[in-house]
Amino acid sequence: MKNIQISPSILSADFSQLGTEIKRLEEGGADMIHVDVMDGHFVPNLTIGPEVIKNIRSYTKKVFDVHLMISPVDKYISEYAKAGADIITFHPEATENTQKTIDLIKNEGKKVGISLKPKTSIDVVKNFLNKIDLVLIMSVEPGFSGQKFMPEVLSKVKEIKKITKEKNIKIDIEIDGGINFDNCTLAKKAGANILVSGSTIFKENKGDLKKNIEILRKN
Ligand code: DX5
Ligand code: ZN
Repeated sequence: MKNIQISPSILSADFSQLGTEIKRLEEGGADMIHVDVMDGHFVPNLTIGPEVIKNIRSYTKKVFDVHLMISPVDKYISEYAKAGADIITFHPEATENTQKTIDLIKNEGKKVGISLKPKTSIDVVKNFLNKIDLVLIMSVEPGFSGQKFMPEVLSKVKEIKKITKEKNIKIDIEIDGGINFDNCTLAKKAGANILVSGSTIFKENKGDLKKNIEILRKN
């Protein structure tokens, strides 16, 4: 099994002091920083634009794992790349041409992720597995933090793991939504090696980020 990496979502952070929050995450042992970008159109919530990413970029050297929940996505890729994203993950429903979107991200020199909503089949990603760096399996409907984990998506994690193992494809499998101290074990067992977490990391144990990151990594 690959080393487990923890990617805390700043959606649950205190937005009035994002820079400090990112420093706290780094000190708490976060492997990367998950940035949820929402447009009020692809999902019913509005969050972070490229300008914010540019401003928080100087607070850490950790990888910025940027999850774009915006549609159409292509015209914004360059801006998010230049703002400081390291991994750019998009939803196939947000583009007319998945290969073109992959190429746009690669041309910016960034890692590419494809994200699947709970009801999106892995069929849409199967043909691209050897062209991308990461598959993000959503375990809640995208839009909000603090929702309940949907265990039925674990079969997709298992399936992706199986296919990539059989074909010897090196890829990260990330899971996002409702991850807590119990279900993180199931996610890892299924084959996920990057865990995103917002509310568990920021709210459990009175917001002790270090402790919460450690428990998610070890459980
Ligand atoms: C949901 C986001 C998630 C979410 C994670 O659309 O993609 O990253 O904020 O938060 P929790 O861990 O609270 O579900
Ligand atoms: Zn996310």
